[in-house]
Amino acid sequence: MADFGVYVHIPFCASKCEYCAFATWTDRGHLVGQYLDALTTEIERAVVEGMPVAQTIFVGGGTPTLVPGAALADVIGSIPATSDAEITVECNPDDVTRELMETYRSGGVNRISLGVQSMSAHVLASLGRTHDQRNVATAIEAIKASGMPSFNLDLIYGAAGESIGDWRRTVEEALAFDPPHISAYGLTVEAGTPLAAQPDRHPDDDDQADKYELVDDLLAAAGLANYEVSNWARPGHESRHNFLYWDQADYRGFGCAAHSHASGRRWWNVRTPDRYIEMIDRGDPVEAASETLDDETQQFEGLQLALRTRDGVRREAFDEPTLELLTDWVVPHPTDGDRVVLTRAGRLMANEISLRFR
Ligand SMILES: C[S@@+](CC[C@H](N)C(=O)[O-])C[C@H]1O[C@@H](n2cnc3c(N)ncnc32)[C@H](O)[C@@H]1O
Ligand code: SF4
Repeated sequence: MADFGVYVHIPFCASKCEYCAFATWTDRGHLVGQYLDALTTEIERAVVEGMPVAQTIFVGGGTPTLVPGAALADVIGSIPATSDAEITVECNPDDVTRELMETYRSGGVNRISLGVQSMSAHVLASLGRTHDQRNVATAIEAIKASGMPSFNLDLIYGAAGESIGDWRRTVEEALAFDPPHISAYGLTVEAGTPLAAQPDRHPDDDDQADKYELVDDLLAAAGLANYEVSNWARPGHESRHNFLYWDQADYRGFGCAAHSHASGRRWWNVRTPDRYIEMIDRGDPVEAASETLDDETQQFEGLQLALRTRDGVRREAFDEPTLELLTDWVVPHPTDGDRVVLTRAGRLMANEISLRFR
């Protein structure tokens, strides 16, 4: 059976972070009930149309913890999934309680992704976050006490005012919680965000490279292996949902602005929750637009995604003379002579190196 995954978008946030370009709203709380009903309807329709059984489900946002846990569990329960499916919910540290985690557990959720970002109050303020880093410990205790089999901590490096010492403390404090998985992202300036309008607060490439090397050293020393440029895990805790995207498998996104992919065709839903609810209620399709990738683009994207992972790409993806020029960045796979992988310095240059495929 080919891999298939489901993404569910929850577009509500308590406040908008300065760097965030995701489709989220802070003034649509009154729509939560109708939105969850619309999600259930969209899922039911897809099931009737023969949607495959999911091996992974990822509920992201936005802030899924802003909607009632039992109602979210019902939405998840309406998605046909294998008995061993990986089911992840993205959580904000401020909202995580043991009761909520137990509700998720009874709804089949087996993985939490917690938006920690930083353990330093002034860095959180600089990112425009409202959560309190002191709540991270309480949230992780609740996750563990509920018997959740796996969890991830999301971290961001490169905010204005973050020193290398601040970042080291963030990573060390995150590691003290013994997480099985960490995603660490360099702060990215997204067009149209408040951060984009403040060039003096934009991250510095060299500073971000130093912070990347530091996090990689600290995580590796703690037994979390890098398995994709921005992702580290203990063996067996790699995100199966992530791999589904990187392997260009089929996935279906539900909710406003959610993206789907099937055999080279990508499509995405209407962007606002208001319009999404309205169209579902009328029985209209919620697809806003689509694109079909030609074979060449599909192949290039596949290589680009694979190069970022620890499996790398087949050696013949590059010309031999190019490989000789790239020896600091691209090296033979440690166990598979037919493949090549990025070095750590190469991981920092993954996009540039992708431009060198033959
Ligand atoms: C879609 S967000 C939603 C998670 C949750 N609402 C939160 O913010 O904690 C998923 C993750 O993407 C990362 N992220 C979002 N925007 C980013 C940006 N501009 N640069 C770097 N990382 C970003 C953050 O680490 C965040 O936890
Ligand atoms: S980063 Fe997360 S909490 Fe902040 S606005 Fe974006 S989705 Fe909402």
